[in-house]
Amino acid sequence: MSVNLHTPGGPGPAPELFTWEFATDPYPAYAWLRQHAPVHRTTLPSGVDAWLVTRYADARQALADARLSKNPVHHDEPAHARGKTGIPGERSAGLMTHLLNIDPPDHTRLRRLVAKAFTPRRVAAFEPRVQELTDRLIDGFAARGSADLIHEFAFPLPIYAICDLLGVPPEDQDDLRDWAGMMIRHGGGPRGGVARAVKRIRGYLAELIHRKRENLGAEGADDDLISGLIRASDHGEHLTENEVVAMCFVLLFAGFETTINLVGNGLYALMCHPEQRARLQESLAAGETGPLATAVEELLRYDGPVEMATWRYATETLTIGGQEIAAGDPVLVVLAAADRDPERFDQPEVLDLARRDNQHLGYGHGIHYCLGAPLARLEGQTAIATLLRRLPDLRLAVDHHDLRWRGGLIMRGLRTLPVEFTPAE
Ligand code: HEM
Repeated sequence: MSVNLHTPGGPGPAPELFTWEFATDPYPAYAWLRQHAPVHRTTLPSGVDAWLVTRYADARQALADARLSKNPVHHDEPAHARGKTGIPGERSAGLMTHLLNIDPPDHTRLRRLVAKAFTPRRVAAFEPRVQELTDRLIDGFAARGSADLIHEFAFPLPIYAICDLLGVPPEDQDDLRDWAGMMIRHGGGPRGGVARAVKRIRGYLAELIHRKRENLGAEGADDDLISGLIRASDHGEHLTENEVVAMCFVLLFAGFETTINLVGNGLYALMCHPEQRARLQESLAAGETGPLATAVEELLRYDGPVEMATWRYATETLTIGGQEIAAGDPVLVVLAAADRDPERFDQPEVLDLARRDNQHLGYGHGIHYCLGAPLARLEGQTAIATLLRRLPDLRLAVDHHDLRWRGGLIMRGLRTLPVEFTPAE
């Protein structure tokens, strides 16, 4: 592991990355990297060599740098090794052409088209449905006095929400939930299960899109996101059928594990900070919504879902934070490290739910800025507020040391979150 030392006298050896301890708490390692090796070349567990960018200023600059491409064709690896870095299984399922893998001008065209269908208005109109889904899930365990908030709450919520938004019929939603579950259960493990799940999702979406295209214009049949995407393609510009499939797939994938972890990590952080949580609960009881929105942004900064899922490939030799990067090298912007940079945030290791100056990078930055941010905010705020309101004495049912974090590196989140509370109606 080569280290770019910035401190004369030597800072000691670089911390070991990608261990069990790192998955549990990566922040001390990130602090070391930010200070001593802010642009650090390392070998990922997949065997791919990549640069990790950990300082806020470098991260923000890299995310917006047009010389850093999202397209894996620029990865300087034999073709068979490429694609290890994108969404699992997408290559074998023919799903490579989507927003997270392409650059302008294709990206500009696709993003403009999807933005026509995935509007803030559509998301705002969806609010009662997210509330209903949230309440239904809580109803499933409220009377029991205990629950695993990952499996029974944070996991199903975003998948049902995005299925509804896309227009997946209710009778098919459990299938999608199970396939999506296979994708993350197997994440980092054997690839076979992931590839099978991705193929099933792909096949299902292709058929659904085809059906919706046939029914377009029929009464009540086209007030959903898939129909919106098909229609957007019919207005002069084009989304091919394959592009609609890939778009729906990325909406499912990009919005799924991220939101699970926003809710899971967020609730865990709240349970670890009882005073701040009590203040938030008081403001919720008083019917205030401002503090909730500010709090959820801080939860994203403090322990956000996306750790390193921000692949870029250098299309030419360039310099980041004084470090030369060769053309073809992969670059991973470590959002979780950038968002704890003391050069940018006052007392970054402190959770401050009322933090004002909070331009975190949790949703990225630049042209690939999260398209689903309004939906993620709606889901995150509704989930956290409703749970705290309905189960006010929610507490962890196990010792902190018994919690297991997924060592996915790309996403940061808990495997389970067992809680107890006074049983409620
Ligand atoms: C892009 C984070 C939820 C859809 C991104 C990126 C980040 C991110 C960091 C940029 C990646 C990069 O620059 O390489 C998050 C977080 C979420 C969340 C933290 C939840 C808390 C969602 C949801 C959806 C979604 C709910 C959709 C339903 C997308 C899409 C992109 C994206 C389509 C690609 C945009 C583009 O390349 O133009 N997200 N996301 N995300 N996100 Fe999210």
